[in-house]
Amino acid sequence: MIDIHSHILPGIDDGSQSMEESIDMAKAAVAEGIKTIIATPHHANGRYDNEADDVQRRVLQLNQRLSIEDIPLKVLPGQEIRVYNQLLRDLEQRKVRTLDESNYILIEFPTSKIPNDISNLLHELRVLGITAIIAHPERNAEILKDLNALEELIEQGALAQMTSHSLNGLFGAKIKDISLEMCERNLVHFIASDAHNLTQRGFELARAYEYISKQLGADYTIYYQDNAQAILESRDIQIWEPVQKQKKWYAFWK
Ligand SMILES: [Fe+2]
Repeated sequence: MIDIHSHILPGIDDGSQSMEESIDMAKAAVAEGIKTIIATPHHANGRYDNEADDVQRRVLQLNQRLSIEDIPLKVLPGQEIRVYNQLLRDLEQRKVRTLDESNYILIEFPTSKIPNDISNLLHELRVLGITAIIAHPERNAEILKDLNALEELIEQGALAQMTSHSLNGLFGAKIKDISLEMCERNLVHFIASDAHNLTQRGFELARAYEYISKQLGADYTIYYQDNAQAILESRDIQIWEPVQKQKKWYAFWK
């Protein structure tokens, strides 16, 4: 498995706090079948700034340590970038980079709303040949209120990454249900762990895929896993068209 969103780099955000913790996280990732993981520390979220050069250097250090410890996990550089005014300028200056220098960039919204100028940003990124992946849209209040808002963003060229824990129920039954609905409506293109630690928010990516396979069929799991692979290869993904939710048969009898 490939995990495209994680906070495994030590001591630079609210994820792993030490190299030892990162090593433990790496072991846990390998134990559940993750072979490649993109380190995506927070950037420009108001609390943490982690420019790409620094991320790159720390990824190198972690990979060296993993090699010494004989842990078969490959860590690649990325960032979870809050949508902010200077994002495009910083992209040009390479303070901000795509996931492993692919054509995909991981962006984060504030939890309460969709940023006002998002359409313009998506357009400008598209002009640069970059596809924006929205991190955990299922945790954004405005999208939760109306999933059509996410569909509109997808129409504008964005993709969506759901967090494994949303499907596993860590954020409550309501988020779990709506997350499954988002998958069913083809409003999701990737599943990732967004792992921060091993106590509260680990990986459990395999568990989320099992749940998806059981609820929606193995095709969905294959789709998500192939899409994650596409990032590493910097190739386009075959996007499944969003669909409206099927009405349950009993809805007609109400
Ligand atoms: Fe994250």
